[in-house]
Amino acid sequence: MKTVLIPGGAGYIGSHTVRALADAGFNCVVYDNLSEGHREAVKDFELIEGDLLDFEKLTQVFKSRKIDGVVHFAAFALVGVSMKDPLAYYRNNVIGTHNLLTTMVNTEVKNIVFSSTCAVYGDVKNVPINESFLAEPCNPYGETKLAVERMLKWCDAAHNIKYVCPRYFNAAGAMSDGSIGEDHKLETHLIPLVYRAILKNETLSVFGNDYQTRDGSCIRDYIHVCDLADAHVKALKFLLDGGSSMSVNLGTEYGASVFEIIKAAEQASGMVVNYTVAPRRAGDPPILVADTSLAKEKLGWNAVRGLKEIMADAWQWHKNHPKGYGG
Ligand SMILES: NC(=O)c1ccc[n+]([C@@H]2O[C@H](COP(=O)([O-])OP(=O)(O)OC[C@H]3O[C@@H](n4cnc5c(N)ncnc54)[C@H](O)[C@@H]3O)[C@@H](O)[C@H]2O)c1
Repeated sequence: MKTVLIPGGAGYIGSHTVRALADAGFNCVVYDNLSEGHREAVKDFELIEGDLLDFEKLTQVFKSRKIDGVVHFAAFALVGVSMKDPLAYYRNNVIGTHNLLTTMVNTEVKNIVFSSTCAVYGDVKNVPINESFLAEPCNPYGETKLAVERMLKWCDAAHNIKYVCPRYFNAAGAMSDGSIGEDHKLETHLIPLVYRAILKNETLSVFGNDYQTRDGSCIRDYIHVCDLADAHVKALKFLLDGGSSMSVNLGTEYGASVFEIIKAAEQASGMVVNYTVAPRRAGDPPILVADTSLAKEKLGWNAVRGLKEIMADAWQWHKNHPKGYGG
């Protein structure tokens, strides 16, 4: 049985991927400092509580077992916070990954799947976005992800470390059995905010209704977290089978607007969403939608769950866990 180390595996996307990796026959070892992650989300798996910035602990973990591959989710991931405190983002996301890669080089672990993001593309003018688009992030968060992608490229050249960098669009939904889901301390993602507005009787802010889109609100590519999890399994197998390094988009190629998400949430929950239209937010592109042909071609992957499943699974999770894991 092959062993995978999963930094950040107690977080939202990580915990769903741990389940998918285990279902595919991998032995999963989660390494997480629980700054955002939840012990409960990985209660059936080995969890080492540790920080990527703790080089000695990391070294000890790599030396104490044979690790066949790494699936790396550990990062700070809030665009707004990164604008206010870029150095914290460089420290955690870039220096943390530098430690991880140094340990991999020292212990000759050669395969890594690294969570990247569509934020590396910046303010794109055309959609769908493919991987040949210029990567020009417009915030420190995206910059740190691109810096790691570039660090990986040079680690491949110098140390033969092979990588896949999935660039996710908007992760959403939850495990369909309702056991795990999305629970960020500071929630900025639309779907949890829509459901919170319903459950707490709050008013949702829709930032801008005068974009050049079909209904004036921003359009994003929402991808089910379990589809993302399946893609990581395929990406790891691809590397273990000798595949070459690449960055690859993960999305659905389908864009939903903010108003369409509100409508879909009302249909899934049978309840009404109170919202108000607020001014546009600086730096919000009108449309971000992925071209996922490369993922289909190289990984044999495409998203199989649609918006209906995303909304139904997310509703089930939020309705049953209005206070997240803590509740
Ligand atoms: N959620 C999305 O829509 C989305 C989109 C694109 C990319 N991503 C990327 O995917 C990854 C996972 O996102 P998520 O939404 O699951 O976030 P998350 O915050 O739920 O998960 C990140 C996990 O990493 C852990 N962590 C952070 N810094 C660490 C450190 N220094 N040492 C050890 N553990 C650490 C946290 O405790 C948390 O469990 C992130 O790298 C994020 O940048 C997410």
